[in-house]
Amino acid sequence: MLGITYSARRVQKKKSMMIHSRTALAERFFSGNSATYEQIANFSSLGLDGWWKRKIVSQIPHNPTRILDQACGTGLLTFRIAQRFPHCRILGVDLQDEYLGIAKEKARALELTTVEFIHGKVEDVVLEGDFDCVTSCYLAKYADLTLLVNNAHEMLREGGMLIMHELTYPTRALYALFWHIHFKFLQAYGTWKYPEWRIALDELPACLKETVWIDELVDALKVNKFSDINIEYLAFGASAIVSARK
Ligand SMILES: C[S@@+](CC[C@H](N)C(=O)[O-])C[C@H]1O[C@@H](n2cnc3c(N)ncnc32)[C@H](O)[C@@H]1O
Repeated sequence: MLGITYSARRVQKKKSMMIHSRTALAERFFSGNSATYEQIANFSSLGLDGWWKRKIVSQIPHNPTRILDQACGTGLLTFRIAQRFPHCRILGVDLQDEYLGIAKEKARALELTTVEFIHGKVEDVVLEGDFDCVTSCYLAKYADLTLLVNNAHEMLREGGMLIMHELTYPTRALYALFWHIHFKFLQAYGTWKYPEWRIALDELPACLKETVWIDELVDALKVNKFSDINIEYLAFGASAIVSARK
């Protein structure tokens, strides 16, 4: 009995160390490179980033009044949501102040008053009120998904949606081969063109091969009794959108 408790504690401790190191990874990947983030997102995804974001926006429930965009970065997804739903209040949260600085500057330039930004770790930002939707794009592999889903359950109204988009490692051998060639190209030409992205481009493939974010997310959604859990693989399994309803 004691042995089981001890090993359960070790598993718990290992998991919390892994989650701690996930945030550290995000801090390493996204430091000193906010100025070229939007270029690298478009370049490294071969232009698919915009299409993926349109797909996320298309899954948001009709006539929303409050949306939380977690790990909003420079606001690429946040501003698409704001344009699609001009009467909705949107809150963006991100770890990196330098990314938020760009997002805030854009909101000022666009004279958008429906968008606000909060500096912080998404796991720590639990807000009051009935949100219609909690979105994120490229967050899942860096986050504590158990905690995020618990928090989303607390913040969403009944019927509200959680929508997460993130990169994945293709399961089919042929697609995986193209995926590896693509990353080799990014690590050569991409890091020459954007040297400030070297750490992220070098370490991303291993990170994506290791992550089990979809399994973790679906388990947490089931524990919190979300319904309509849907997984949509995109671009030959190079990314996926997971959505669910509270
Ligand atoms: C690749 S960017 C994505 C930005 C934006 N969602 C988009 O699609 O363009 C990833 C962002 O996640 C943020 N991030 C990662 N882990 C986070 C966490 N635990 N809490 C808040 N932000 C986080 C990073 O600071 C970074 O700005």
